[in-house]
Amino acid sequence: QTGLSLPKYLQEEELTEECKDKTLPTILTCQKNFQAQDSDIFLATTPKSGTTWLKAIGFALVNRRKYPDPINHPLVTNNPHALVRYLELEPRIDYQADNTSTTTASPRLIATHLPFVSLPESVKNSACKLVYLCRNPKDNFVSVWQFANKVRTKEMGTNPLEETFDKFCRGVNVYEPFWDHALGYWKESLENPQGFLFLKYDDMKEHPEIHLRRIAEFIGCPLSLEEESRGVVDDILNLCSFDTLSNLEVNKSGKLSSGHDTNVFFRRGEVGDWKNHLTP
Ligand code: A3P
Repeated sequence: QTGLSLPKYLQEEELTEECKDKTLPTILTCQKNFQAQDSDIFLATTPKSGTTWLKAIGFALVNRRKYPDPINHPLVTNNPHALVRYLELEPRIDYQADNTSTTTASPRLIATHLPFVSLPESVKNSACKLVYLCRNPKDNFVSVWQFANKVRTKEMGTNPLEETFDKFCRGVNVYEPFWDHALGYWKESLENPQGFLFLKYDDMKEHPEIHLRRIAEFIGCPLSLEEESRGVVDDILNLCSFDTLSNLEVNKSGKLSSGHDTNVFFRRGEVGDWKNHLTP
C-alpha cells in the first residue's frame, strides 16, 4: 500500500495501525517533497537516545547571539521539541528559511529519526551538516520501554519488558533496527567527516564541554575567545542540562502539538540505568 518493501524479519501484522496508516505515508511524502538547503543542520537520533538534549544544545548554540540571556531564553518557556521540529513528522511544515521564526530561522535546524537510507535524496545530495547522537542500546531500550509505558493509557496496561525487548532486538519499529540505524550513520561519518559528526550520549554525559565545542565547530559556529572568557560553554550546558530542563514549568506540565505531555521526555537522564531493569 505504501510502496515500501518491509525487511524480511518484520512481519507486516506487527506494525501498528498508526504506523501503517500515518507514519509510513508521512515519511514517503517527506522523502518525495523535502528540499534540503546546503546551510541546513540535521540532528539525527533513534527515539530515546537523547534527542531532547541534542535539540536544546543545537538550538542554544545556533541562536546564542540572538538570545544571549539564559534567563530570557526561548528554552526557558518552550520545550526543545517545540523549537526544533522533526523532518518526517511534520512534512507540511514550511521549512523555507524564515528569520522571524524560532523554528525555521536560517540555518534551519531540523531533527530526524529516519535511518540514513531513508533520508530524502535532497538531503543526501546537499552539503548540509548532520549530527548523529547514538546511545548505549541497553539504556536506549530501557528508555524506549519506559516511554512506551508512560504514553499508554491506563486501559492499555503496561508493555511487558520481555515482549518489548524481543521487538526491539528484531527491529519492529519504523526507526529500527537499532544497529542498522547507528551503523548507517557511523559509516557515513567515516566516509564524509565534513558532513557527519557521530556522537555518543555516554561520552557527552562524561565530557559535555568537549562535545559542545565539537558540535559548535562542526556546524560552523565555533566559540570565540571572547565567548570562552564569558563562560558561554557553561551557560549553554547549564541551560540544556537535565536538571534545568526537567525542572522548568513548561517541561513539567506543558503539552506539545503532537499531544504528548512535555514531561514524558525527562526521566532519569543517566548512563547505565539498564542495570536496574535487565539481567546481564
Ligand atoms: P531516560 O529514559 O534514560 O531517562 P529522547 O530525548 O530521544 O526522547 O530521549 C529521552 C532520554 O533522554 C530520556 O532518558 C531522558 O531522561 C533523557 N534526557 C532528556 N533530556 C536530557 C538532558 N537534558 N540531558 C540528558 N539526558 C536527557
